[in-house]
Amino acid sequence: MLKEVKYPNEDINQNIPNDLESYWMPYTTNRRFKKNPKFFVSAKDMYYTTSDNKKVLDGMAGLWCVNAGHCRPRIVQAVQEQVAEMDYSTAFNMGHPKAFILANKLAEILPKDIDKVFYTNSGSEAVDTALKMALAYHNANGDSRRIRLIGRARGYHGVGFGGMSVGGMVVNRKQFPNHLPGVDHLQDTHIPEKNAFSKGQPKYGAERAHSLVDLINLHDASTIAAVIVEPVACSTGVLVPPIGYLEELREICTKNGILLIFDEVICGFGRMGKAFAADKFNVIPDIMTMAKGITNATVPMGAVATHKKIYDTLMTGPEHIVELFHGYTYSGHPLACAAALATLEEYEVENLFEKAENMELFFQENAHMLKDLDSVVDIRTIGLAAGIELKSRDDGFGKRAYDVFDNCFENNLLTRFTGETIAVSPPLIVNKDEVKIIFETIRSAILEVE
Ligand SMILES: Cc1ncc(COP(=O)(O)O)c(C=O)c1O
Repeated sequence: MLKEVKYPNEDINQNIPNDLESYWMPYTTNRRFKKNPKFFVSAKDMYYTTSDNKKVLDGMAGLWCVNAGHCRPRIVQAVQEQVAEMDYSTAFNMGHPKAFILANKLAEILPKDIDKVFYTNSGSEAVDTALKMALAYHNANGDSRRIRLIGRARGYHGVGFGGMSVGGMVVNRKQFPNHLPGVDHLQDTHIPEKNAFSKGQPKYGAERAHSLVDLINLHDASTIAAVIVEPVACSTGVLVPPIGYLEELREICTKNGILLIFDEVICGFGRMGKAFAADKFNVIPDIMTMAKGITNATVPMGAVATHKKIYDTLMTGPEHIVELFHGYTYSGHPLACAAALATLEEYEVENLFEKAENMELFFQENAHMLKDLDSVVDIRTIGLAAGIELKSRDDGFGKRAYDVFDNCFENNLLTRFTGETIAVSPPLIVNKDEVKIIFETIRSAILEVE
């Protein structure tokens, strides 16, 4: 028997559930959503279809993840075939071929010597795995005092206790007061008074990398295991690294025996117009985390790639003992591996990283056309990612951005809001007309919600 209809919108298509109460939605204002629910029921290429049959242009590649566009036949077919051939295989002391083939393919596009790949199921798990690997590496080196993990203010590294602790967005931290001990944070790189409306990398702020020197002076380098940063801090509103900043950070880490981890969960797989942000900025970390675009989001998957020195250091000791006591039931899941292999092929065959790189300038120019609007206080762009920061209204921080997001959706465009910033990150297949529609729709929305 169907329960009583709980949602108020009478027009909603009957295919959707009549009771919304049981599902506790992630990172969502549940009560607000359930008063005015929005449902996607299908997707193709650049568009979603809603339950009331509207076509919505995907200005966010889902959630920074559907980089090749939705339901691409090559990927759909690979997953369909794999599920019929072998649904699951344990990754503990057993292999299946695609897990190894995929690791080799990833190693081909990863920076030189970053060629050992460990699978997880999400970005959060990739981050926690990377942090644990850093600790295990120093431990195996006899450097067991190196236990400190350094994140950065305004960073986002997922929702595990490790990722939350090194993360630096206060809303994600303050509700859960006990974090990992021995964690500290670098200063963020946001300097709006000097860098507002920069196109690409801002000029000022390389010296912010020296906040790592301050932490070394405070704690001593011999106690610091690793520093983790997003090359571009996307979730907090697209903070682009100032020119020279990542290079400085790399140098300080190298000098002091500290591992540098790049969290490439969003930046990887073409978002920056290159395979990885490490390529875009020409700075090579010791460890990289990935997720999202690795499977085009078709099947959940994350991964950690490490420099071979880390793997080699851990491949010591007796061979009958597990070298890293870490892994997941679904590490290297056959469906995820099949999806990832097809996704990498799709990126290559369709030249999607080059397409993104070629579109970057046009995307940037269109984003920056919003500069003339009174309520726009900053625009930040790099690759195919943009953050449009709005002036807060008196009625509350973040309310203007939410209204703009809502207005865009009413006008058939999916964006995302974080604080008072509207984020844009379309699939890499986006064309010029669609880029124009995205920023024109945002312009109208900003004007309408004044
Ligand atoms: C940089 C970064 N790291 C980690 C994560 C967490 O990934 P997931 O949501 O797959 O756990 C995200 C998610 O947006 C992210 O942007």
